[in-house]
Amino acid sequence: MGEMKQARPTVLEVHHMIKTYGSTKALRDVSLSIREGEVRGLIGENGSGKSTVASIIAGMQKADSGSMTYRGKEWNPKTMIDALEHGIGMIVQESGTVPGISVAENIFLADVDRFRKGPVMNRRKMMEEARRILDDIGAEDLRAEMLTGALDIQSRKLIEIARVMRQDPQILVVDETTTALSHRGREIIYRIMRKMREEGKSVFFISHDMEEIMKECDALTVLRDGEIIRTFDRDEFEEEEIKRCMIGRELKGDYYRSDDDSQFDPEVVLEARHVTVPGGEPLRDFSIQLHKGEILGIGGLSQCGMHTLGKVLFGAIKPVDGSALIRGEQVKNEADAMKKNVGYVSKDRDSESLVLQAPIGDNIAAGGLDRFALGHILVTPGAEKAYVNAQIESLEVKCQSRKQYVSALSGGNKQKVVFGKWIGRGSEILILDCPTRGIDIGVKQAMYQLMAAMKREGKSILIISEEMAELIGMADRIAVLKEGRLEKVFRREEHPQEADLIRYMI
Ligand SMILES: Nc1ncnc2c1ncn2[C@@H]1O[C@H](COP(=O)(O)OP(=O)(O)OP(=O)(O)O)[C@@H](O)[C@H]1O
Ligand SMILES: [Mg+2]
Repeated sequence: MGEMKQARPTVLEVHHMIKTYGSTKALRDVSLSIREGEVRGLIGENGSGKSTVASIIAGMQKADSGSMTYRGKEWNPKTMIDALEHGIGMIVQESGTVPGISVAENIFLADVDRFRKGPVMNRRKMMEEARRILDDIGAEDLRAEMLTGALDIQSRKLIEIARVMRQDPQILVVDETTTALSHRGREIIYRIMRKMREEGKSVFFISHDMEEIMKECDALTVLRDGEIIRTFDRDEFEEEEIKRCMIGRELKGDYYRSDDDSQFDPEVVLEARHVTVPGGEPLRDFSIQLHKGEILGIGGLSQCGMHTLGKVLFGAIKPVDGSALIRGEQVKNEADAMKKNVGYVSKDRDSESLVLQAPIGDNIAAGGLDRFALGHILVTPGAEKAYVNAQIESLEVKCQSRKQYVSALSGGNKQKVVFGKWIGRGSEILILDCPTRGIDIGVKQAMYQLMAAMKREGKSILIISEEMAELIGMADRIAVLKEGRLEKVFRREEHPQEADLIRYMI
């Protein structure tokens, strides 16, 4: 089989590509190629240039210099639509759906006029075709008529996948799509990639998840600081070596926290008491308590209610029954939660967590950015401020200056700003919903160490995560949710394995 793959022709080549943004050298001299029937992983730290090279291939932007060939001809796409018409499509890292229109309209977007005859729009036909495409990719429970704005991030990603796949691309670029998806959503992507391989088509797969990238790819290319460090063939895959190439050094020290017991104060700081929330991701008579100095992990399948729980505790969703309490007092709304020193990192960073068209500094700085107009400035004592600055530095936000707009940051660096923002506020209680989404392993380690340090200082953390390894590695207790109910609570000293958690999830 290896030989057959060797014999397959190259379909796309990138030669000596350079791209700069002001003083940032995003790509220094990148050359790579991909064969027919190849799934190629692209991996590297946040800001290493993965999205930049991918977006140039897919016609989203232009390189400063260098050239590309596609099927032996010069490749110079004018726009993403142009690229897609010629067979190269990309699922972008940041969200790309329009909220105010239906799922079907988003799938056909610039192309809805094909359902128009004169002044008459054949909506039924459009809905039918959208339905067929959704079925094709395996997203049966997404309805074509639904309004996009009301959907969660996973559903919106599935729309983008449908939009690209309906054009039957020869080369597909998947930029960090899986971090936004649950297990089921990921399977959809994997299935598409495997099918493309069988059909002799090609995929660039960008991910920070070493496990999935090693499992799904035929080869992987490591980028660091805008340069290609090395390309590994599948039979050369070796996790430690790949990591070393990525960060240019050995990962030292503990990855997760090092202690082995659940230990925290009996004092309850955050509580859900008999909470019921109806809807797509419900909670049913749900109760749980977070203690002072505790890291409480929340896990389950998508729709199990865990993301809803985070929002209820932060006062962003009002339960129809039961209540959310911060230090015994009922939470009124988000502003109230913030006033009570609760921070919340949302899973959906672009629409809920960041002000994109504002400088990084304003996003991070305590008090300066609130969309909730609290009208108070948090005065942090000098020592704490120094600590905060040091922590933000340890997150290594890759930027030109604090004045740079968040919209210019790479995906993972945006996530670091979200994290830094809440720590910068001096939050005593943190609700983290998938906080390490899209974060590279080096910075992930820094975040985990930061959480462990916060715990030692008596701060409390509720971490909602789809990564079981992260829950097992960090939490004092892990609560497993299923269909809006509490199924099981594990304690740290029980050393639960992933299989133990899964048993209660399904
Ligand atoms: N529009 C822009 N303006 C200014 N700088 C940019 C812009 N887009 C990207 N950059 C910078 O170029 C570098 C490479 O960014 P890129 O998005 O390619 O990284 P990445 O490898 O995809 O990272 P991540 O894993 O965080 O998504 C980063 O330093 C980033 O801040
Ligand atoms: Mg990126």
